[in-house]
Amino acid sequence: VNNIIRIPVAVHFPSVATTSTQKVCFRTLAQSQINILNADYNGTNADISNFVNDASFYPGTNTGSLQVEFVLATQNHPAGTGLVNGDLAVTFGTDFLGNNDNDATWAGYLNLVCRNAGNGILGYSPLGGSPSAGMTVVIAKSAFGSGNGCTGYVPGSPYDLGRTLTHELGHFFNLDHTFESCDGANCATSGDRVCDTPSLSIENYDCPVAGDVAGCQPTEYALTMNYMDYVNDACMYMFTAGQAARMQAWYNTIASQFKT
Ligand code: ARG
Ligand code: ZN
Ligand code: CA
Repeated sequence: VNNIIRIPVAVHFPSVATTSTQKVCFRTLAQSQINILNADYNGTNADISNFVNDASFYPGTNTGSLQVEFVLATQNHPAGTGLVNGDLAVTFGTDFLGNNDNDATWAGYLNLVCRNAGNGILGYSPLGGSPSAGMTVVIAKSAFGSGNGCTGYVPGSPYDLGRTLTHELGHFFNLDHTFESCDGANCATSGDRVCDTPSLSIENYDCPVAGDVAGCQPTEYALTMNYMDYVNDACMYMFTAGQAARMQAWYNTIASQFKT
């Protein structure tokens, strides 16, 4: 059994929160996102049970979990950020822009930056994380967390269940899209390079019914409910065991970059 991975997270909101009520709102929003990540990455999300009904379409595919604990950090940063020990690592008025998505004072954390990600883009992450770029993942204001949100940061349907970050962190942990390309002769070196995800060359949106979308191979169906496709938040609910293994292997290569 692997040791559980613990990842310290800092969340950065570019807007300045002036009132204590606003700050409480943003901290609650940040925690809502952390809770979603913990559920999705540990396979404790309620909707993962939907996959049982779909198993006949996907022989050889099982759900997987990384066994990870994302923790909203509660420590002052040695370089000084205005936080005091015991404060949640939620900052205001910082977006890392113009700084190569890097801010040296936040090295050692997984940095979630909640800002406009570009035209119609919900979020982005470097493939395989990126210690040199500050281990920063950008997430649109309308796709961060769940619930009622805060002024200027209201989760918008159908991407209002916090799963854009589940998806982007998949990239961070070195996962490609399930629709990367059709497999060549070797499933470990082509397509998404994960053998228990049926290969696919085009993304899916909305909420396809399991088994309705053909895969590249005549006998295979698209794993549309996978976090690494583009369906609605409510319609994605699983990683595969192969994806979890690939993420674990990648984590092992960057583990020492995180603050303990
Ligand atoms: N990078 C993708 C985009 O910006 C993320 C898609 C996430 N999908 C989702 N259901 N949350 O379009
Ligand atoms: Zn993606
Ligand atoms: Ca595959």
